[in-house]
Amino acid sequence: MSDATIEDRTPVRWTRDADLAARTSLRVPARTAWLAEVADAAALPGVLADPRMAVGGLLVLGGGSNLLFATGTTDAALALSADAIEVVADRGDRVVLRAGAGRDWHGFVLHSLALGLSGLENLALIPGTVGAAPIQNIGAYGVELDRRVHAVEAWDREAGAIVRLAPGDCGFAYRDSRFKREHGRWIVTAVEFALSRTPRLELGYAGIVDELHAMGIAAPTPAQVAAAVCRIRRRKLPDPAVLGNAGSFFKNPIVDEARAAALAARHPGMPAYDGGSPGLRKLSAAWLIDAAGWKGHRDGDAGVAPGHALVLVNHGRATGAEVLALARRIADSVHARFGVALEPEPRIIGADW
Ligand code: EPU
Repeated sequence: MSDATIEDRTPVRWTRDADLAARTSLRVPARTAWLAEVADAAALPGVLADPRMAVGGLLVLGGGSNLLFATGTTDAALALSADAIEVVADRGDRVVLRAGAGRDWHGFVLHSLALGLSGLENLALIPGTVGAAPIQNIGAYGVELDRRVHAVEAWDREAGAIVRLAPGDCGFAYRDSRFKREHGRWIVTAVEFALSRTPRLELGYAGIVDELHAMGIAAPTPAQVAAAVCRIRRRKLPDPAVLGNAGSFFKNPIVDEARAAALAARHPGMPAYDGGSPGLRKLSAAWLIDAAGWKGHRDGDAGVAPGHALVLVNHGRATGAEVLALARRIADSVHARFGVALEPEPRIIGADW
């Protein structure tokens, strides 16, 4: 059914009635009336003015690892495929590395390590693209992306121009950013990262030092830290290429200290972490869901990963509506049991949470 119409080197490739399921890591059924794949950000004004894209809710696709299609169709989708990597500033120890939005995130992390640059090693193996990374401010093993961002380059649909935003202008927060909140306004085209030739390792997150120890490594290089992170992730999290999933389906809930203390008194084993601001604590959504008995649960082909309670999976033929229904049941049950509201991390297309 798809009819890619334009020859190879053009900056834009149009596909009618494109299948998006394989472009999302949950792989639930999804199609778009038109898909535009844009190889050069300079072509964006023309693409956005095209009647095929001039619809209410234009969907901008990254690696599709943070999307849930609650309904199976959308009118228009756009994906940036520009993926060049370049050093844009080299001041001895400090190097600014720029990557196009379409670059695969993990491949980019490995590329930065091969250049001898430290800073992204804890973020190895996160699915998705460079362009999607700042939108939800990806994070893992004690490092969040905003701490490494030098600038984000994005098409501003309000201004009708490419703008360059310093990290302080990006409104970064835990799994959140201005790009996510000001939905529909921004199309990230490239990201610049401030990296270091001197390793600045962050080994504080539970499990990293133990993993390095198991690998027989006492004084790790950044590449070895990345290898340890990959080993932990492969053990704990299902591989989206094998079992459809969108990583953590819920954010870790942030509650006030009094609520956290009351819960900890009733549940002595419950983990709780610094909430990022005074008076706040971050709870473990995985622990809450696990304690409510959902780990490994299955409703047809929609399920909870057997190895990690925070990951919802598609065992094969689940629809987005089925995954969403399961997510709501889980959130309701956690709320009934612990009085804590869970919020989804992926963007839900075609339904409100
Ligand atoms: N736990 C359980 N049951 C489980 C899994 C975990 O009780 O099935 C408890 C354990 O006590 C564990 C704690 O939850 O110590 C935390 O688990 P983990 O270290 O796996 O981290 P997480 O809070 O569940 C977050 C991120 C992940 C990131 C890891 C590692 C969020 C929503 N998730 O998960 O990010 O990889 O930390 O840093 O912040 C993602 O966002 O998609 C994602 C995978």
